[in-house]
Amino acid sequence: MAPPDAPLLETAGATRQLPEGAVLVRDVTITIGRGEFVAVTGPSGSGKSSLLYLLGLLDRPSAGHVALEGRDTARLSTNELAALRLAKLGFVFQFHFLLPEFTALDNVEIPMRRLGRLKGAAVRDRAMALLGALGLAEAARKLPEQLSGGMRQRAAIARALANDPALVLADEPTGNLDTANARAVFDIFERLTRDQGRTVVVVTHDPDLARRATRRIQLVDGRVVSDSGA
Ligand SMILES: Nc1ncnc2c1ncn2[C@@H]1O[C@H](COP(=O)(O)OP(=O)(O)OP(=O)(O)O)[C@@H](O)[C@H]1O
Ligand SMILES: [Mg+2]
Repeated sequence: MAPPDAPLLETAGATRQLPEGAVLVRDVTITIGRGEFVAVTGPSGSGKSSLLYLLGLLDRPSAGHVALEGRDTARLSTNELAALRLAKLGFVFQFHFLLPEFTALDNVEIPMRRLGRLKGAAVRDRAMALLGALGLAEAARKLPEQLSGGMRQRAAIARALANDPALVLADEPTGNLDTANARAVFDIFERLTRDQGRTVVVVTHDPDLARRATRRIQLVDGRVVSDSGA
């Protein structure tokens, strides 16, 4: 069992090296607590996505540790990691990755059905509530292709929130959005952290957006070179 006071997410010397030798993430030791709004910045190729994959249990460190709620993830099987991601983490990427043949509502319901924590009408009710809270009540029964870019990304955020994750990880979620829609995404992240106590870790190369986070972690060549929260 994880200690009850363990930080949400902790890495110790986390390193990601490719078999052919390239080091994408070097010796990263960070602790991220509940309710933190963290921006990860750094030049292209500095390892931001690679670090996010480690934090999101999508990838395993080749050295060092990543612990979620005090539980070292190194010994977990691929299936156990997938189950942990489904139950505890939400992901938002630059491309929305909504399933094109399903409505926005279906897309938000799918992770809930996979997890199976909610049943029957509760699934639909929660999906509608999530979409409504993000201004998408009218769009719930539309296909992704019928939505604007900003609406699609908000639907992707609703899907990320489907299973009530403690941690939301986003990789350049505003990369395809205009300024107003990018701000709207960061408004949502602000509410998730400040009002709902969730943790958001967002990769962005937009300094204006990064300033809105409560903590900034900067990477260069896979290393943390500054961390406003350390
Ligand atoms: N599977 C891979 N095989 C080979 N090189 C890789 C692989 N994944 C990433 N890299 C390299 O590792 C480095 C870090 O990549 P990463 O995608 O994490 O950077 P990033 O900071 O997210 O960049 P960007 O801002 O362009 O998204 C880059 O030099 C990249 O080319
Ligand atoms: Mg990247």
